[in-house]
Amino acid sequence: MTDLASLVNGKRILITGGLGMIGSTLAQKLVPLGAKVTLVDACIDPYGANLFNIENIRSQLTVNIADIRDKEAMKWLVRGQDIIFNLAGQVSHNDSIENPFLDADINYLGHLNVVENMRKFNPRAVVVFSGSRLQFGRIEYNPVDEKHPLNPRTPYALNKTAAENLYKFYFEMHEIPCVVFRIANPYGPRSQMKHSKYCMINWFLRLAMENKTISIFGDGEQMRDYIYVEDLADALLLAAVTPACHGEIFNVGSGTGARFKEMVEILVDIVGQGKVQSVPWPKDYVNVETGDYITNITKLQKTIDWKPRVDLRTGIQQTFDYYQRHRAQYW
Ligand SMILES: NC(=O)c1ccc[n+]([C@@H]2O[C@H](COP(=O)([O-])OP(=O)(O)OC[C@H]3O[C@@H](n4cnc5c(N)ncnc54)[C@H](O)[C@@H]3O)[C@@H](O)[C@H]2O)c1
Repeated sequence: MTDLASLVNGKRILITGGLGMIGSTLAQKLVPLGAKVTLVDACIDPYGANLFNIENIRSQLTVNIADIRDKEAMKWLVRGQDIIFNLAGQVSHNDSIENPFLDADINYLGHLNVVENMRKFNPRAVVVFSGSRLQFGRIEYNPVDEKHPLNPRTPYALNKTAAENLYKFYFEMHEIPCVVFRIANPYGPRSQMKHSKYCMINWFLRLAMENKTISIFGDGEQMRDYIYVEDLADALLLAAVTPACHGEIFNVGSGTGARFKEMVEILVDIVGQGKVQSVPWPKDYVNVETGDYITNITKLQKTIDWKPRVDLRTGIQQTFDYYQRHRAQYW
C-alpha cells in the first residue's frame, strides 16, 4: 500500500476551487497527513464554495479568496508549491450553453493563467486537472476507456477538452508534470445542495429529505457511473504523487454502472420518504444526453494502488447522514 503520509508530509499543496466538494475533500485528507495546504477559491455563485466544508481544519490551512483568472494573484500563489490541484471550475454543462463566454473564461482561460504562471514561476510543481466524462459526448461503447473518441457536445465539455489539450501541451513543451482526469458522476458530502445544475444524487437527496417529488427522465433505464467523492479524492491524491501518472490521462469512476431508477430507489429507501414520477426527457437534456456510461478504470488501477471502496448504497447512506447532521449549512 502506498504510504501517502511519507509522500505528502511537509509538502506545499495548493487547491484551487478548494472550498468546493472535491477540493475540500482533498484538504480533509491532506491536512492530517501533515501537508501545508492553501485553498484558493473565488466563491462564485452558484458553485459549491462553503467555508463549513473545512471548518474543522480551518486553523491548520490557509484560505485565499482569489480567482484563477487573476493574473497577479496566481503569479504569487503558484510559487513554492509542490502540487497544485487545479479544480476551480464553472461546473454546470447546461449553464455553459446559456453562457459560453463565462465557461471559456474560467474553464479554459483561467486554467491557462495557472499553467502559464507555473511555467514562469514554478515549472516543477505537479498539476492535477479535473476534466469530465462529458468530454466523450455520445457513448459508442462501454466501459469507456481513455481511447474512446472525444465528441464534446456542450461548451463545458468543449472547454474541458481544450484545457486537457492545454495541459498536454505544457507537459510536452515545457515538461510541467500534469495529471489529467475525466471524472464520471461524483457525489457525496460537502457538495452544494441549492440547485440541480450538477451532482444529481445530492439534489435528489435534498428532494427526498424534503419529501418532494423526484422526476426520472424517460424510462429511468439510463446507466451512470456514480463515484463517491472520498474514493475520487484518493485517486487524485495518489496520482499526483505517482511519477508514472505524470503526463497521463485517466478516466475515473467507480467502474460500476447503476440504472437511474435503481439509484433513485436506493435513495428513497434510505431517506424513508420522497415521491418519484416519470416525465418525458426535456428538450435541453435530450440534446446533451450521452447514453449509458460506465468507466473503464483499468489504466488507473494499473498505475496507482487504488480501488473504489464505497458502493452506491453505502455512499448514499453516508451522504444522507452528513446532510442530516449539517443541513443548516447547505440548504
Ligand atoms: N461535480 C461534478 O459533477 C463534476 C464532474 C466532473 C468534473 N468536475 C470538475 O471538478 C472540479 C471541482 O468540482 P466540484 O464538484 O468540487 O464543484 P464545486 O462547485 O463544489 O467546486 C468548484 C469550486 O470552484 C470555485 N470556482 C469557480 N470558479 C472559480 C474561479 N474562477 N476561481 C477560483 N475558484 C473558482 C467555486 O467557487 C467552487 O468552490 C470542477 O473543475 C468541475 O468541473 C465536477
